[in-house]
Amino acid sequence: MDLRTTYMGLELQHPVVASASPLSEKLDNFRRMEDAGAAAVVMFSLFEEQIKHENAAIEHLITSGADSNAESLSFFPEFEDYETGPDEYLNLLRRATEAVDIPVIGSLNGITNEGWVETARMMQEAGASGIELNAYYIPAKLYLDGREIEQRYLDVLKAVKAAVSIPVAMKLSPFFSATGNMARQFDEAGADALVLFNRFYQPDLDLDEMQVVTDLKLSTPEEIRLPLLWIGVLHGRINASLAATTGVHSPTELIKYLLAGADVVMSTSGMLLHGIGFLTTLVEGLQAWMEAKEYESLMQLRGSMSQINCLNPDAFERANYIKILENYKAEYQ
Ligand SMILES: Cc1cc2nc3c(=O)[nH]c(=O)nc-3n(C[C@H](O)[C@H](O)[C@H](O)COP(=O)(O)O)c2cc1C
Repeated sequence: MDLRTTYMGLELQHPVVASASPLSEKLDNFRRMEDAGAAAVVMFSLFEEQIKHENAAIEHLITSGADSNAESLSFFPEFEDYETGPDEYLNLLRRATEAVDIPVIGSLNGITNEGWVETARMMQEAGASGIELNAYYIPAKLYLDGREIEQRYLDVLKAVKAAVSIPVAMKLSPFFSATGNMARQFDEAGADALVLFNRFYQPDLDLDEMQVVTDLKLSTPEEIRLPLLWIGVLHGRINASLAATTGVHSPTELIKYLLAGADVVMSTSGMLLHGIGFLTTLVEGLQAWMEAKEYESLMQLRGSMSQINCLNPDAFERANYIKILENYKAEYQ
């Protein structure tokens, strides 16, 4: 059975990829993910703030005595808050690419295009097969308008594309006014892949401690629906590859994402909950399902239920909303 897929120009043996997670903080885990069958691994993110902090710290040392940098240093989170600085990150990336035969994708998280983009080039030199850009940004400043924010995302992508020759993926937020149009703009700006979607970690309130809680909850399978919708809509309409991230807790979600049109499907929560061997469960589950349905290659099934290919394209749009509400009312009564 032919499970091969092409993702951001990389030829992969099958579509199961390990997404950015703390598992990639350990060299040994890269080998374990490869052994469990990962077709590629995305490393955890290096943050713009980490890079800028290190640059500012170095400059501060050089100009020590003058406190011109004191303000900029205090702007960044404490250095100790981060376990890994850029040098350690690049070192781990280099060793990981030497240790495994599968592609290793470096991950950068930033929202300005200044002072840190060079790090993308260093990731390429360290052996990364690609770069994933995670532009996590909550536009809480009320004077910023949508266009300005969209332009920031595009500027970051263009700056990184100009710095490297390896492929660049954009890990997107689902919260654009026109997600499809934004996807097209990223595509035209040269994104080699779109990763749908970045999971935003929203705060909660602790009523006993009267504090804002910022804990991290793992995903649930129900969360596949938003990425599934947009992968289904975008499949066949843009050149960039599509990666699905969020909610893969069994082969079922993996298969749904592929039918909607994903070129690869990523896992973090599943691996954190069930161990790295979860990747094997996914690949074997996909194979078993394809055998049962008599598919010979992934190409036959990928995107066969996307909006452009399915018999009921309305199911992806507003018309279906009215139907869903009507059906619910009928059942309820
Ligand atoms: C503990 C943890 C750490 C993560 N770290 C990163 C990261 O460094 N960079 C990134 O782009 N995504 C990060 N993610 C997001 C995952 O890559 C993934 O997109 C998200 O968890 C949704 O996929 P899942 O449902 O398989 O968990 C992290 C997720 C978790 C749970």
